[in-house]
This record gives sequence, C-alpha cells and structure tokens, in this order.
Amino acid sequence: MSSDRRPTTRRDFLRATAAAGGALTLGSLPFLAGCENTSPSSTPIDFPDPLLDVSSASTRAPLRMPATVAPTGLTLTAAPATLDLGGGATSPGYGFNGGWPGPIIRANVGDAVSVQLQNGLPEGTIVHWHGLVVPHLADGHPMQEVGPGGAYSYHFPLVQRAGMHWYHPHPHQRTGRQVHQGLAGLFIIDDPADAALQLPSGPYELPLVIRDGRLDATGQLEYLDGTSGHPGNAVFCNGVRDATVNVDTTRYRLRILNACNTRVFTLRLSNGASMSLIGNDGGLLANRITVSSVTVGPAERVDLVVSFAGRPVGTKIMLTSTSGGTTFNLLEFVVTRVVSPSGQVPAVLSSIPRYQRADAVRTRSFSFDGAMRINGVPYSMSRLDFQVPLGDLELWRLTNANTNTGVNHPVHVHEAHFQVISRTGGRNSVFPWEGGWKDTVLLEPRETVEILIKFEQYRGLYLLHCHRLEHEDMGMMSNFEVV
Ligand code: C2O
Ligand code: CU
Ligand code: CU
Repeated sequence: MSSDRRPTTRRDFLRATAAAGGALTLGSLPFLAGCENTSPSSTPIDFPDPLLDVSSASTRAPLRMPATVAPTGLTLTAAPATLDLGGGATSPGYGFNGGWPGPIIRANVGDAVSVQLQNGLPEGTIVHWHGLVVPHLADGHPMQEVGPGGAYSYHFPLVQRAGMHWYHPHPHQRTGRQVHQGLAGLFIIDDPADAALQLPSGPYELPLVIRDGRLDATGQLEYLDGTSGHPGNAVFCNGVRDATVNVDTTRYRLRILNACNTRVFTLRLSNGASMSLIGNDGGLLANRITVSSVTVGPAERVDLVVSFAGRPVGTKIMLTSTSGGTTFNLLEFVVTRVVSPSGQVPAVLSSIPRYQRADAVRTRSFSFDGAMRINGVPYSMSRLDFQVPLGDLELWRLTNANTNTGVNHPVHVHEAHFQVISRTGGRNSVFPWEGGWKDTVLLEPRETVEILIKFEQYRGLYLLHCHRLEHEDMGMMSNFEVV
C-alpha cells in the first residue's frame, strides 16, 4: 500500500489507542490533528420530497452502458466533468474518468486489484469499495482522504464470491455532495459458480445504476448542503435521464443498484409481470424467488431476471417505482426483435450456510436516532466506538429511533456481509430480497432489525453508518475495529 499521504497502520492505530491510556480514541494519531468532528452548526432541515418531473417522459433517451474495465493497473480519476444526462442534455458535475456512472470494474474472484485514485477535484476525496471485503488501508476510510492533486493506491485481492458492488467517495462530511454530483460506479465480481448457472449474459445482462438527482431550473445537477435528506426531482438510469432500451423477446438479467442519496425505490414492471429475484448485495440467493415488486433502499442491490418472451414487437414495458402513491418511470423497455429465448433461471442458485441465532456469542444494540447520531452520539473520526473480535458471530440489533417521523435509515456495515434474521415493528417481516448476504438493510420508522454478522477476513478499523448520505455526513456513523 502506498500513498502520497501515509495512512496509519494497524500497529500505529493500536499504539495510539494504548497511548491514550486505554481509552478508545484515535485522537493522538498525528495526521488526525484538526480533524475532530465538527457537527453542523444549525439543525438541518429535511426539505420536502419534490415531485418528480415526468413531463419529459414522452421523449426518452437511449440507455447507455459505461465501459467495462479490469481493476489491474487501473487509474481512476475523480474530476470535474461535463456529464452527459442523455437526450442532448449536459450538466457540470463530477465524474470518474469523465463519466457518470464511472467505468464498470469487472474481475474474477482471486484477481489482484491495483487501482490508483487520482484526485482531480478541487476538494479532498477518497474512494470506498462498497460491498468489497478489503484491508482497512484499502477501505476508503475518511481518514485516508487525499487532497486536490493527491493520489491513493489500492492493492487487494478479491476474496469473496461473485456479486455486484460499487465504488463511491467517502470523504468526511462531503460524501453526499460528491455522490450526487456524479461520483459512483459498479464493481462486478464473477466466479465459476455464477457462470455455470447460464443466467442471461452478454447483451442480456444489464448492470443498472438507478438514482434520482436534483436538477435546478436550468437543468443542472444541484446539491443543497445542510439538508438531512436529498430526494431528487429527476431519475437517471446509468446517468441517462428518462432512459429507454430496446430489448429482444428473451430473458434479461437486470443487476440493479439504488445509488440514490436518500430515496427508496419499490420496483415493478408496468405490465404487472412477475420477476425472478436471484440475488442481492452479497451475490446470488440460495433459491430463485418469484416477486411482483422489490423494495431497494439507498446502496442496496437486487439481481432480477425478467422475460420479454412472447411480447409483440413494439410492446413498451416500464420499470417503475411507486412510493407514497406516486409512480414514476425509471427505465422503458421496447420490444424490438424476436429471438428464441435463451438464458436459464435455475430454481437453486447457490448454497448459503445459515447463521444460527443460538451461535451468536454476544449481542450489540445500535439506535439510529434523529439525523446524526448512533447510540446518542454523532460520529467522531478520532473516537473508536467498539471492537469486534475476528471470527466471532455476533447479533446486532438495529433500531430506528425516529418513531414520530417518516425518516428511514438504510444501515450499512463495511467489511462483512450479514444475514437478516428478524424485523419487528413497522413492516414486521424480513422480505425475500433480504435473504442471502446483505451489507445494507433498510430500517423504516419504528423498525428493529436483527442481523447476524461475523468478520472473518481482516483486522482493522471499519465503519458502520446510515447510507442516507446526508445522515452519514452529519454524523450517523461509527468507527469500529475488528481485533
Ligand atoms: Cu457505500 Cu461507507 O459506504
Ligand atoms: Cu461500504
Ligand atoms: Cu439515517
């Protein structure tokens, strides 16, 4: 690991902890001087959800696919860019290698990743690999932020099963802004077990970054600082506003990331057709499940197979999201070519060992409270909140303490995938898309969700936080160390 700004090593970290007389603090780390958390001075307001502008829905722009690149010797430059919003519209923003989303990074289990982040932004940044199991120094912790003109080198092996993950900035208190302005991309891991299933592939596999964004009166991406949530007024699929894609009469694998700062999507097809749910955050589920809708919070992924077989040429089917009684259109499929259906959707997809509640060696409780606190305290970069022994199975009880507001918390853990075992209050059930392995789970108001989690790969400092990015930036985040 090398960097123009020497990050801490685990040994330094422990020494600093010891030097502080056993108190769990990171404050004595020299490069953290001046980095003490500053909470927003005024209470942030939650601006009302703007009505999505669907007026342009009659003129839809072709979906595009970002370039696919390998993570070996890759340079990823984060820099101001003119973003192509599709349909001839552009906006100033930020891009990875000039685009939004950034390139699709794709590799096989076992591959060695070596990526150089170049910071071409006028502000500090650092990249986090959401969903990837990586050493602390490659995790994009905000303490690893590099300034304008700086660089950071990431080197790590891909040690986990196939799945679709993503990369995005994680600087202290500016993650929401940087992601909203265009910095995010997919990271797909393949393995032989996934390939052997002969799921729809090639042109029939569509990785989709779906998100909203706020456009100002002149149609440019505009981020409002100091809010506790940032719902947009326009929707984008792979960066294209009101996208459309031509499809053949066959099965498609739709690999979907909700890359919104704040908004939750409940996805369905406009013709009411059922979909096969095959995977989520941590890769394939154990079994195929037939669903008519899926709810995907910020940072969550769903892997779906849909079929256009037998649909007449000219048929238009919309991928929609319905929330609070409003339906809006995310992506239009237009059947344009008759082919004989290909691609399988086996009933049995993978084997997932089930963690057992009885095997958990301890229980921890986390209360997500207001917009900036976990267990009553806002994030401090210089405070270590808890330590988890490597290899211990733990039960974590996550509670949304915002009982009187509609505010939800998509809770995310770095470094390990977990299993969701219960939800009480609110929606009161664990949904099919919450089976298998998760790294983010949605807490609606009044909900308590129990997860079983075990860190098995690396010791070091990682993060637990709300992935409603405005909450994360305001302090709904904790440092923990795997020891
Ligand atoms: Cu996608 Cu710590 O985040
Ligand atoms: Cu993450
Ligand atoms: Cu939150």
